[in-house]
Amino acid sequence: MTIDNPNYAYPARSSNRKGPNLDKIGWVFMRASGVVLIVLIFGHLFYNLIWTEGGIQAITFGFVAGKWADPFWMWWDVIMLWLAFIHGSNGMRTVINDYVHKEGIRKVLIGAVVVAAAVLIILGTLITFTFDPCPAGADPELLPSFCATL
Ligand code: HEM
Repeated sequence: MTIDNPNYAYPARSSNRKGPNLDKIGWVFMRASGVVLIVLIFGHLFYNLIWTEGGIQAITFGFVAGKWADPFWMWWDVIMLWLAFIHGSNGMRTVINDYVHKEGIRKVLIGAVVVAAAVLIILGTLITFTFDPCPAGADPELLPSFCATL
């Protein structure tokens, strides 16, 4: 019995093709980013839910503002955002290549994944780096304590 190649849309790379093997790079990237994501996601969950007193109830605007006052956590969050989106969208590219057999639809779907990931990465990065922890006119009760001294 012969089992069909499940990767219909993306025929196997021939051994004499020139240039970098992007699929191999993507394969290695999924494993490397997976390992880094374990550290970033579990570090994030531990900090927010276990090391912070009050658990999930304590995650307020003031909490996030206080956390992002430290560039370490700002970069932690932004790298987690970038890696999760690049990893997730590259994973969706693999799923689409495996299951979508019509070339036109495959290209449209991969294009949609790339556009969605790019928009969300740009928006998330802008929000992180332009975040104002002490917005004028806000209820001081909701702001981090350091806003009072500004
Ligand atoms: C704890 C962190 C994570 C680890 C260790 C991890 C690991 C992996 C690995 C090793 C693969 C490749 C599987 C394969 O080629 O057969 C993969 C695929 C994938 N990952 Fe993750 N991942 C993590 C988080 C995420 C997150 C946060 C997302 C979504 C934003 C995501 C979405 C995907 C998708 C869509 C695939 C493709 C699935 C497939 O090929 O069938 N992963 N992940």
